[in-house]
Amino acid sequence: IETLLCDGPLKGVKAVVTSGPTHEAIDPVRFIANRSSGKQGHAIAAALAALGAEVTLVSGPVTIPDPPGLRVIRVESALQMLGAVRGALPADVVVCAAAVADWSVANRATEKRKKKVGDPPPTIELTPNPDILMTVSKAEAPVRPRLVVGFAAETERLLEHAADKLARKGCDWIVANDVSEATGTFGGDSNTVHIIDGAGTESWPAMGKDEVARNLAERIAKALGKM
Ligand code: CTP
Ligand code: CA
Repeated sequence: IETLLCDGPLKGVKAVVTSGPTHEAIDPVRFIANRSSGKQGHAIAAALAALGAEVTLVSGPVTIPDPPGLRVIRVESALQMLGAVRGALPADVVVCAAAVADWSVANRATEKRKKKVGDPPPTIELTPNPDILMTVSKAEAPVRPRLVVGFAAETERLLEHAADKLARKGCDWIVANDVSEATGTFGGDSNTVHIIDGAGTESWPAMGKDEVARNLAERIAKALGKM
């Protein structure tokens, strides 16, 4: 009976979740990063596992602990994250919660950049990173997961930008969250989100990131016909 109870509605369902920031190296000792803590993505991975899914969490550099009971692949850069996600496919559901750096450093130095008195500051040249969410969403069947969920972190015109991302990236849902400074979303424990899909927008009240994760995992289970 115990085993049966632990099985959960998502037993046999394969999920991949990206979480955390990526780091893009400038030289061996410096990198470009962002404010993502990984809390929301890790909580989603844990919530899917709690419903019985077989979860691979692809995590950028974070300081929070690995959730128990799932496979964690740690990466640093966006390119590495894409590689790890590709390696974890096929999956039934992919949730891209990572704050992937939009650019990597084109003129990355193999040795530490040294400053010399009187020299102008060095210039960092950026080159676009691959879009992991779009790559997964636009994959051909049978690699294309049944459900692909993306996030839209915005500081202004949240719903407009989020709806645009849903259309542009080809994912099935966008979880839109306001990350303007006043909300304290980055690094904080609470989140106010809106779920945008082909049918419209569902706005959820402010709640803990763990609760967002549980509700999202349940919505995913229902969408897959498992609840
Ligand atoms: N994403 C991704 N790979 C990237 C950039 C973004 O997988 N290289 C995913 C994120 O994990 C998130 C969604 O795309 O699920 C939206 O990320 P966001 O940064 O909000 O969108 P961008 O398209 O990068 O647009 P911008 O940063 O200009 O708002
Ligand atoms: Ca971005």
